[in-house]
Amino acid sequence: TALAPASGPLAGRHVIVTSGPTHEPIDPVRYIANRSSGKQGHAIATAAARAGARVTLVSGPVNLPDPAGVEVRRVETAREMLAAVDAALPADVFIGAAAVADWRVEAAGDKIKKKKGDSPPALALVENPDILADVAARGRERPRLVIGFAAETENLLAHARDKLVRKRVDLIVANDVGSGVFGAGENEAHLVTAEGVESWPRLGKDEVASRLVARIATMLEASAG
Ligand code: CTP
Ligand code: CA
Repeated sequence: TALAPASGPLAGRHVIVTSGPTHEPIDPVRYIANRSSGKQGHAIATAAARAGARVTLVSGPVNLPDPAGVEVRRVETAREMLAAVDAALPADVFIGAAAVADWRVEAAGDKIKKKKGDSPPALALVENPDILADVAARGRERPRLVIGFAAETENLLAHARDKLVRKRVDLIVANDVGSGVFGAGENEAHLVTAEGVESWPRLGKDEVASRLVARIATMLEASAG
């Protein structure tokens, strides 16, 4: 099928989205993971593609179909996610929607076995690279817009502002995860920028995605080029 020339507010832009959890192996049969479903990240990739962008979706293990019209790179670990993002750059926009595991395990080469009388094995954790902060710290390769998420159970806006500054990103989408949003179809988002906070009502994740994409188009226009 012939590709129609892209039109829409993000035509001609390359958008990279990370989505889903990462899995960090403990040994060949076990891993550490988290509760991210990937729904929000995948919805953002879909919305960006609908807005005419070329989209690269770097996804951890999820139970979701590949969004239409999106280039999908599947990864398992945080380090693989960073490598895939690296390979996909440069981009106009980076959106870190993945729930990247903060730590990985010094993985064992063989399955860890129980031995009678032994105490449980201790897991030695090593910090993973911060993909969002890494992308935001690039020089010439830094995307014009770098957007992160903050999933918090307390002090939502204070933590989100801290992440905005610490990771040097342009926008943080803050979500209160104390109330069962994992795997749910809805999100209550607060957009935190250097200018202030804009709180959205509880919306479907698809609606959050299309509003965010509209906001991205406006921000790109405002920053000109
Ligand atoms: N992030 C990332 N790489 C990591 C950790 C986080 O790219 N190793 C990104 C996430 O995709 C998200 C943002 O950073 O966009 C915030 O993630 P979060 O887990 O809330 O922040 P942390 O800095 O890990 O802080 P903490 O987990 O202690 O709240
Ligand atoms: Ca984290």
